[in-house]
Amino acid sequence: MLEGKRILLIVTGSIAAYKSLELVRQFIKANASVEGILTQGGSQFVTPLALETLTGKRVHTQMWDEHSFEMNHIEASRRADLIVVAPATAGFIAKMANGIGDDLASSIILAGNKPVIIAPSMNVEMWDNPAFRRNLEQVQKDGAILIEPQNDVLACGEIGMGKMAEPETIFREVSKYLSQKKSLSGLKAIVTTGGTIERIDSVRYLSNFSSGKQGNQIALALATLGCQVSLVSGNTQDSAPLHSNISIIPVESADQMMAAAHKNLPADLFVGCAAVCDFKVSNKSNKKTKKQEGLELEFEENPDILQSMGTLKASLRPKLVIGFAAETNDVTDYAKQKLEKKGCDLVIANDVSSGAVFGKDDTQVHFVSREAINSLEPMKKSEVADILASWIAEHL
Ligand code: C5P
Repeated sequence: MLEGKRILLIVTGSIAAYKSLELVRQFIKANASVEGILTQGGSQFVTPLALETLTGKRVHTQMWDEHSFEMNHIEASRRADLIVVAPATAGFIAKMANGIGDDLASSIILAGNKPVIIAPSMNVEMWDNPAFRRNLEQVQKDGAILIEPQNDVLACGEIGMGKMAEPETIFREVSKYLSQKKSLSGLKAIVTTGGTIERIDSVRYLSNFSSGKQGNQIALALATLGCQVSLVSGNTQDSAPLHSNISIIPVESADQMMAAAHKNLPADLFVGCAAVCDFKVSNKSNKKTKKQEGLELEFEENPDILQSMGTLKASLRPKLVIGFAAETNDVTDYAKQKLEKKGCDLVIANDVSSGAVFGKDDTQVHFVSREAINSLEPMKKSEVADILASWIAEHL
């Protein structure tokens, strides 16, 4: 998968730097070529000679050394397919977030024109530090792809998030990234996620247990393939997906979600992942209802956003309209009916009879289209999102 790929590996100053040597070995074994850059901090933990021996290439540590003509900070990224920063210290991420180029490695990032994957490594307090959180959020917004650290005993003896992901994990993520074609670039998607909120009065509402995880992961998977995503987000329990290709449109009710989704047309695809409340309160009050007044609610049906997209006239309809179906029995039969009724090209059905799907990272789904029913193994919602993104790329 990595055959012939060119990776520019930046090693910054953390004890996890020793693991980067193992990472290089794995890249080289997979027939990738690796060019190594050590920051000054990085070279306190591994020597240029160790990195040179494994990469088979001269390793550079400084902007201006006797070989600086070979490692120009501008050209370095031009000849690479991908830049990997592993380990990435809090200090280096701060430089990335603020556009500081005061040494060779940070100048390469600043002058770079290739995707950047970061594998942070630091103490748990640094990981939780608000300034660091801001910087991490910023670099992700700027397009860097994060490989999360592990929650474990850290080199300093403290316990918590901050241990760099294992070389195997970084290798797998890099391979996955480089094997994906940027096959959705130039396309636009509208994705709905989360649950809608239907107000009862000024302080009370009705909603559901949707976490928004699956829709957020789908937005991220599409954005990673180069698609521009308008993510219409209801109420979620998940942190917002950060990617420069995603714009988030927060909404509350089904009516607002409907309006926001249609406002973002035209689009090449629509994915309705939100748990839209079927009913809204037709006698809602603008002030807080007193207990003594009692409460009698009247309902009217909400618009069906997915159906409204699936049944648009051909000139307006997104080329692919994809819905979800949470069912407790006869899962694929109901999904097939939904596919027809709502004018979808694909319905992803899952069995929620045990209630085990809401808020969880794992799920088990069936891809139901007119042509086939494909039942997948239980897997992470992020994996379902990747498979869906590939399905979309194939079918567009
Ligand atoms: O009919 P049901 O609610 O089971 O359909 C689920 C699918 O329809 C999901 O894709 C959901 O996002 C979408 N839906 C919608 N608007 C509604 C109800 C459901 O877009 N009012």
